[in-house]
Amino acid sequence: MLSFNDSDLKNIVEMRGIGQSYDGGKNWIIKDLDFLIEDKPDQGQFVVILGMSGCGKSTILRYIAGLQKPTEGEVKLAGQPISEKVRASMVFQQYSSLPWMSVLDNVALGLRYKGMSKAERNDKAMEMIEMVGLAGHEKKYAQYPKLSGGQLQRVAIARSLLANPEILLMDEPFGALDINTRLQMQDLLSGIWRKFHPTIIFVTHDIPEAVYLADDIYIMKSAPSRFVEHIDIDLPLERNRYTKRDPHFTELVHAVEDRMMKVAEMG
Ligand SMILES: Nc1ncnc2c1ncn2[C@@H]1O[C@H](COP(=O)(O)OP(=O)(O)OP(=O)(O)O)[C@@H](O)[C@H]1O
Ligand SMILES: [Mg+2]
Repeated sequence: MLSFNDSDLKNIVEMRGIGQSYDGGKNWIIKDLDFLIEDKPDQGQFVVILGMSGCGKSTILRYIAGLQKPTEGEVKLAGQPISEKVRASMVFQQYSSLPWMSVLDNVALGLRYKGMSKAERNDKAMEMIEMVGLAGHEKKYAQYPKLSGGQLQRVAIARSLLANPEILLMDEPFGALDINTRLQMQDLLSGIWRKFHPTIIFVTHDIPEAVYLADDIYIMKSAPSRFVEHIDIDLPLERNRYTKRDPHFTELVHAVEDRMMKVAEMG
């Protein structure tokens, strides 16, 4: 049994007693799942979720994004139940920008309901566009192939961070990118995390990517699913491509692989 932080410290994400069934309770895809992520205001957390295909990783993120409600249990974000107003933004594997709008308008969309003037929204959006390395592209339509896959994911990251700087959900966000772009995007994200300290919940099937990015890795078992393993990634906070050549990095990758195998054997 995993022990999560259960003190009075505020949790940025709090899920208790989650169950998911699509057939009125005959079969449970998720059952008795708890997931607590402690809020570390000036530090943030980089949490990576691993688990076999179909175990419910995207479902978990969909709850926090307010896109789906569990059959059972409670999901809270910063102490409040998820609602229209209280929900996190998500970056998906498939590009989710609006292709008939410019990069600037797509990014500024994250501020639409925050009662700012258009000029103010655009200023803030430009700051974010610069941060994700897209300055000079702001007037282009956010569509492939006018922008590359990596650039479109930068648009999605900028929009999500602007909409909600405290928490960012990412569902296999780099899965469709070529390897070079994927490595660049890992470093971009890692840099954003160290600079702005959001809490990031990131789903991937790539174990080296998980170890490179994470503070903490949680592994889900399936049928019915819940979290069963936690691995603390005790690499230095500052990471770069040489980190991947550190023998301790390789040890951690092997340790995560072993735990994944163990979880797969649980059935
Ligand atoms: N509307 C639905 N009706 C029945 N089953 C569903 C429905 N939506 C999702 N599921 C099931 O819920 C389970 C969890 O799906 P989810 O997409 O969360 O998995 P995942 O861990 O993200 O998988 P992957 O790694 O392939 O992305 C899957 O087994 C899926 O078949
Ligand atoms: Mg998924």
